[in-house]
Amino acid sequence: MAILETIVIAFWAMLPAYVPNNAAVLAGGGRPIDGGRTWGDKRMLGDGKTWRGTAAGIVAGLALAGLLTVVAPAVADATGIDVPEFEPLAALGLAAGAMLGDILASFLKRRSGRQRGAMFPGLDQLDFVVVSLPLTALLAREWFFEVFTMGVIAVVVILTPILHVTTNMIAYKLGLKNEPW
Ligand code: CTP
Ligand code: MG
Repeated sequence: MAILETIVIAFWAMLPAYVPNNAAVLAGGGRPIDGGRTWGDKRMLGDGKTWRGTAAGIVAGLALAGLLTVVAPAVADATGIDVPEFEPLAALGLAAGAMLGDILASFLKRRSGRQRGAMFPGLDQLDFVVVSLPLTALLAREWFFEVFTMGVIAVVVILTPILHVTTNMIAYKLGLKNEPW
């Protein structure tokens, strides 16, 4: 069924962008990226964006992309769904773009006076899509347009907020995250 195939491909293609945020939550801590600096009377990014969390997130996204690339042919064989392999630059665009989007979101949150951990509906759920997709299109143009068809992009825009809300709720219940968003 075409719609199921599109959903599977969208989820698969976005995994290297989904996992960095969760890895950052698990690995976060240490020196904040903004080094405590403020802009005006507000923190530039806040203590929630650290070097360690960011590095761990990007490494986790790249590692997952590598793993998925190794198993893609077998998965495609077994399911009949043509799940994509990841070019290195595509993996980098997805993983680094996700972290960059999250950092940009914190920058915007601080500018709008929101404290660390405050929610920003919409931005919280889609920040990493908004940066990872254009960055991937920039770094691995051909790969991007082959994998991210209009249908896949539509599924990503619908699926991502749902996944984001549920995984964050789980992380909150498990005590890994301070807020359920
Ligand atoms: N984290 C990190 N580095 C990142 C992103 C996240 O260390 N680049 C860790 C931090 O410990 C952070 C936690 O993951 O507190 C949750 O991430 P997130 O919800 O994005 O940060 P918040 O603490 O909610 O801060 P903000 O309001 O800036 O989003
Ligand atoms: Mg948060």
